[in-house]
Amino acid sequence: MKIDIDIDEKKKNYTVFINELRSLNFDSKVAIITNPKVSGLHLETLLEKLESKELYIVTVPDGEEHKNLQTINFILDRLYEHQLDRRSTLIAFGGGVVGDMTGFAASIFLRGIDFIQIPTTLLSQVDASVGGKTGVNNRFGKNLIGAFYQPKAVYCETEFLKTLQDREFSAGVAEIVKMAVTFDREFFEWLEKNSLKDEANLQKAIKKCIEIKAKVVSLDEKESGIRAVLNYGHTFAHVIENETNYKRYLHGEAVAIGMVMANTLAISLGLLDENEVKRIKELLESYSLPTSYKIDNITNFYEAFLHDKKSINKKLKFILPKHLGGYEIRDDIKKELILDTLSKVNSEQ
Ligand code: GLY
Repeated sequence: MKIDIDIDEKKKNYTVFINELRSLNFDSKVAIITNPKVSGLHLETLLEKLESKELYIVTVPDGEEHKNLQTINFILDRLYEHQLDRRSTLIAFGGGVVGDMTGFAASIFLRGIDFIQIPTTLLSQVDASVGGKTGVNNRFGKNLIGAFYQPKAVYCETEFLKTLQDREFSAGVAEIVKMAVTFDREFFEWLEKNSLKDEANLQKAIKKCIEIKAKVVSLDEKESGIRAVLNYGHTFAHVIENETNYKRYLHGEAVAIGMVMANTLAISLGLLDENEVKRIKELLESYSLPTSYKIDNITNFYEAFLHDKKSINKKLKFILPKHLGGYEIRDDIKKELILDTLSKVNSEQ
């Protein structure tokens, strides 16, 4: 299966291949950026399919708490040591963290070299590896440093998902639910009836998500409009992840909680009804995803929203589902209603 990503600037176009990775040949230097877990499980399989002039492996620590400029420096140092040049290619071999950092390193090394995404987590296959968002976190929040920088190709191999732990798998499901709730009611209803633990269903869902993402990115590469919808649940999730030092929740888990919080706001605005909210929560919980979080200090939580990239002139932007399969992008929500929502979220637990 192949899905083309058409960006306005034609030279940036590329293809996402699903279960099509047979062989990759390069007549230049290549560095694979990976983490110890993925390399232990899958590097051998990848190396069997790869040929290059010279090949280097750069291993970075696993986990969102390592997605920072220090790790970027570490990657860049290895690239200089191995004397990669402007014709070289980086391969991101891992989940969203590896993908985001590899893409960012590729975007700034010698003012930009090619990179390829070979995502090994469900979350990364259905969302993060496609669309060219790259970057790292800092102490102010998530993904605040980075660049839009498109890969040259993305290879999603479901074989790599077989070793995912349940929590990792479910974290990916959260992003699948996100796309269904905001863009495709029929897909949402299909997800309610079909388990993603089944390989054929999983492949269908991955394809569907990449198709949705392809459309969105083609319309709005730099997130000046519709692409923001992919951030449903993320405004809340980023604060939760930052408050818990990126340690308690996987990104997709925080997104699951964030979607439920966004839904509480959506009900107040008449965009969702109680039954729709219940169905979304039940679908998330059927994959054992967390759906609640105790906010210790509501004022601090609110203030943290203001560090979000999407807040402009202290105006917060919320992505809210409009019934199932629709969305609204709102930047006119009064502070009182947001604070009231955060109190409700706490009392509903
Ligand atoms: N993960 C959201 C986006 O790529 O825009």
